[in-house]
Parts: sequence; C-alpha cells; structure tokens
Amino acid sequence: MYYNVIKSGMVFYAHCQMANITFIKKDDIMKRTHNCGELGLKDVGGEIVLAGWVNRRRDHGKLIFIDLRDREGITQVVFSPEADDISHAKAHEIRSEYVIEIKGQVCNRPHGTINPDIHTGEIEILVHELTIINPSKTPPFSISDDLNVSEDARLRYRYLDLRRPQMQKNLFLRHKVYQTVRRFLDGNGYIEVETPMLIKSTPEGARDFLVPSRLSPREFYALPQSPQLFKQILMVAGFEKYFQIVKCFRDEDLRADRQPEFTQVDIEASFVCIDDICGLIEGLLSSIFKEGLGIEIKTPFPRMDFDEAMARYGSDAPDTRFGMELIEITDLVKDEECQVFNRVIAQAGQVKGICVPNMASMSRKDIDELTAFVNTYGAKGLAYFKGKESPIAKFLSEKARDEILSRMGADENSLCLFVADIPKVVAMSLCQLRLHLARKLNMIPENTFNLLWVMNAPLLEYDDEEKRFTAMHHPFTSPRETDYPLLDTDPLKVKANAYDVVLNGVEIGGGSIRIHSRDIQERVFNLLSLSKEEAREKFGFLLEALEYGAPPHGGVALGLDRLLRFMVGAESIRDVIAFPKTQSGICQMTGAPYRVDNKQLKELKIRLVEEE
Ligand code: AMO
Ligand code: AMP
Repeated sequence: MYYNVIKSGMVFYAHCQMANITFIKKDDIMKRTHNCGELGLKDVGGEIVLAGWVNRRRDHGKLIFIDLRDREGITQVVFSPEADDISHAKAHEIRSEYVIEIKGQVCNRPHGTINPDIHTGEIEILVHELTIINPSKTPPFSISDDLNVSEDARLRYRYLDLRRPQMQKNLFLRHKVYQTVRRFLDGNGYIEVETPMLIKSTPEGARDFLVPSRLSPREFYALPQSPQLFKQILMVAGFEKYFQIVKCFRDEDLRADRQPEFTQVDIEASFVCIDDICGLIEGLLSSIFKEGLGIEIKTPFPRMDFDEAMARYGSDAPDTRFGMELIEITDLVKDEECQVFNRVIAQAGQVKGICVPNMASMSRKDIDELTAFVNTYGAKGLAYFKGKESPIAKFLSEKARDEILSRMGADENSLCLFVADIPKVVAMSLCQLRLHLARKLNMIPENTFNLLWVMNAPLLEYDDEEKRFTAMHHPFTSPRETDYPLLDTDPLKVKANAYDVVLNGVEIGGGSIRIHSRDIQERVFNLLSLSKEEAREKFGFLLEALEYGAPPHGGVALGLDRLLRFMVGAESIRDVIAFPKTQSGICQMTGAPYRVDNKQLKELKIRLVEEE
C-alpha cells in the first residue's frame, strides 16, 4: 500500500523536477519503502526504509532489538556496532513509543529465532541508519491487547489505547463495513443524502440535546434523534431510495450498548412493503458479514411475532441461542390453595417459570441470591422446585405438582424457578434471570450470530406515569390496515407495520412502513394525546407534506455500533467507537461537556441559574 504512495510520490517528484519546482526535498519522498507488516523471505538482501513506533526494545548490550510497529504489523530491527556504530549508540536512548525511522538491510533471522506468530517473523532488519523522529513519555499503560487498565485511563489517553492492535482492528473493520454499506446500497439504487444536524425539536421517545441559537435568541435547535422525518420528506420529494450513515443524538441513561451519540445506517424507500425492507436488510447484513468477517449468514432470517417473543422470552429482543424459555403455569395453579400465587392471580397477575437443567442441587444461599436478583426487577419473590422438592409443594395438590413439572419439562435434576406478578414484571424479571443463569452456567454458544426479525409489535403502549398512550416505535409508524377499526375501540390491540432485527438478544435495527396520509397521521397524533394545535406546531411541516402527493413508504435503521460490537466480540459499543463517552456522558480525553465563557453565554442571551 505504502509502496504505491511512494511510487506516486516519485512520479510527483519527477513531475516537479520537469516543471522545475524545487519545494519538495528529495529526502522527504524517500521515506518508508515498506510497511512494518509486509517484509518476508522474498525481500532478503534488499535495502529498505521503515518508520513507526517502538513497540518494545530489548537491550542486549552488543545487540539491541526493537519491535517496530505501524498499523500494518511489527518488524524486528537489530542494531549492532558492526553494522553502524552511530545508530547502535543512539539506539540505547530509544524507549517504548518513540517514533523512529530506520534504513537497513533485510536479513534472515538466525536459526532458532524465527517467530511463526507474525507475518514478518522470518526476517529482521540490520540497521545502517537511525533517525529518532520524536521521543515519547513513558505511556501510562502498555500498548498491547492483554492490558490490565481501567477504561477511564484508556479513554483519557485514547490515542494510546487506539494504538493497540485490537482497537486498530476494530476501526479497520468499521471502515470496511462503511464501504460495504455504501457499495451494497448504491448497487441497489439507494442514494446517499445528508440531512441537517441542527433541527427543530421533535422528540421521538428519548430526550433531545438542545443547541441555543444566537441569531434567534431564546430559541433552540435540537440535535436529531434520527433523521426520521427528513427521510420521509425525501420520499415525498420523490427520491424513492435513500440512505445515510448518520450520527444520531439521544440524551438517555447510558448503558454498555447505548451512547449519547451513535451511528445508524438509515434507510428509506417508496412503494415498498415489509418483505422488501426485510429482504434488503438481510442482503445488506449478509454482505457485511461476508466482506467483513468472511462469514456466510443464513437468509431469510426467522421471523417471530412480538407477542410470541414476549411470551417465550419475556423480551422484544429475544436471545434464541439457548433454551430455558418462559413457561406459563397460571392455569395450573389458579384453583389451588397456594397463597403466594393466588393473591397475584386475583389481581390480574400471572405465574411463569423457567426450568434450569441439572441445577436441582443449588444451595439455599444461591437461590437467595437469585431471589435478590429478581427483586431488582420488581419481582416480590422467587418460588422454586428442586426436582420434586419445594417449600410451596404442600400448598399444591399432587395433580397440580405433576402437571407443573411435566409442563416445565423438568426431571429430578431440574431447578424450576417461578415468578408471580403482573405480566410486565414477570417478563422483565424472568427474562433477566434467564440471561443471568445462561451466562453463569455457560449455556450460550460462542461465535454464533443469531439473527431474527421480531414482527407485529403493538402500535402503542400505555405510559403509567404520563397517563397516556405513547408510540412503541415512533409516531410515524403505520397501524396494520386490518386494525384501523380498533384505533377507536381498543387502541392497545392495534398492531404496527413494524419490524426489529435482533442479533444475539440485542436489537440492532428497527423500522416500519410509515403513515402516508394526513388523516391517519392526525388520528395517531390524537391517540398520543397531541392536540390538533400541538400537532400542527410540532409536526405541521410533515402534515403539510403528506398533502402534496406522499407515496407509500417505509424504512429501517441499523444501529451500526451495536452490530460492530458483535462482529468484533467486544463487551461494549465503546470498543468500536473511536472517541466514545463514558457512562456519565463525559469525554475523558477532551473533558467535554465543559463550562463556556460568559461572553459566549451573553451572545446567546443565556444566564445560568445557581445550583440549589
Ligand atoms: P430506533 O430508535 O429503533 O429507530 O433506532 C435504530 C437502531 O439504533 C440503535 N440505537 C442505539 N445505538 C447506540 N446507542 C443508542 N443510544 C441507541 N439508540 C438506538 C439500535 C436501534 O435498533 N428512525 C427510526 C428507524 C426507522 O423507523 O426507520 C429509529 O431511529 O440498534
Ligand atoms: P412467602 O409467602 O413470602 O414466605 O414466600 C414463600 C416462597 O414463595 C418464597 O420462596 C418466596 O420467594 C416465594 N414468593 C413470594 N412471592 C412470590 C411471587 N410473587 N412470585 C414467586 N414467588 C414468590
């Protein structure tokens, strides 16, 4: 790769000479004949120039060895007084992470010193000339993948952390995925359009980041939570197939798979149905896995109904890499004398459980720990059967006990765990318990990419705090046409033309077919308790556009950071983002967010309130 750069540099040099331009020194373009990852036996005898960072120095007095690193790899270079006493003397000064340039000869490594682990392991460079380009302070941690250092330190010195081979690999893969996305979507007729970052606040579910306007004092832009409305407007504008690799901003509580700014592969198309979008994403993900990792993934992905996902896994993003599904036993216990269950069932509750194979011998202490675990998700207790033994067995008839264990698929070695509560708490606590136990008991197969679609989610959910319906996806998602009558009679039963793509139990993308008529859009706004005036004030531009010949359209957005996290096998999306924020939204390297000058505030007509 560099060789080409050098070649073109020489052509440029020749060109400059012909044109009698002298501002390029010949030395400048003689730098680096090769990179640190490419030399091998075929190059032995050649004179080469390498530049890079000192990965490690071993000083054996007479011989000094340096592992020289650049982004392509590592090459061993050797300094000896016989080859060049000046550079040998200088090499004593060199420390880790110094930037150096060397000129030398490619040699066979002596017998017994070959390193089969690296591409350049059969050769070394005997140095004739050394330039120390820039020294380095001792880094706060070593530049290697088996580092044992806090993430805070890694983020504070991100430029050092990013030098590690794993982080370089992650960002190279990210680059590769960008290229695949562009090639694939361009090949399918999608055009890339940029949409604005300073927009009107039109919340989609999360909190907006706001940007004060200097030219319109007391008014604010918002940063987009996604380009949702702009991509829909592009459909009204007749572009038919749009995509963008785009930053989105959401002011929400952060977790391992959430960042305040993250990247979506955002897609929208006109005259499409659900199968078109799902097929497109299956093709796109296949190309990404094939070109990025050399892995074939099976398409089409299985599809699961939202209700089924909630029933069997307690989650709208089920991890189907292992079993231990949720099983309902409400009907088997509702007529029994068991108070623990009955008092819950009487209040519209349910009883569900999971069956953990071969764990009947779990200690009381461990079960107490699991109980404390489900308590954090709101469950009031955890009833259990170890084989046939259970503290609640005496409250159940023999028939009920047998039926419960048979339905759970339990044998004498199984541990069955039950939660009785309202469906939301049962789902949440058992879903988390299932994942927790699967991780603890190593039930999750490694190196699998388990992809599926979750379809037919409800259009709305009820927000207990705000006492109103909210959109499950976003307010622009279309209801299933057959459910239109339910909009007035039983809105929570209305299903959406929506789909989520789930990878290993994490939602990596979601989308829907949109509403394209003003009438339906107004009805949905109304259901969301948005008055006509509010709807007009917030979304007037959309409602207006829908009246000028809006085509039917739909789309999807992939969470690129989440997808990449799985591709590289990282714990957190922070490992696939060059400069991420901490859990508390801070950039450790730059210190953002930060105070601003009074002068800046004055221009914006902003006065800060003293903290109470
Ligand atoms: P949605 O809100 O589902 O849909 O977002 C799409 C995908 O983006 C990823 N994602 C995130 N990744 C990292 N950090 C976050 N804070 C974060 N939030 C979301 C998820 C998610 O599946 N406009 C719609 C898409 C559409 O309808 O076309 C949208 O934004 O992987
Ligand atoms: P208690 O009646 O509170 O003494 O509980 C008896 C057993 O039932 C204990 O193992 C509790 O953990 C369990 N338990 C209590 N409430 C629930 C519940 N809502 N769901 C499942 N198990 C429960």
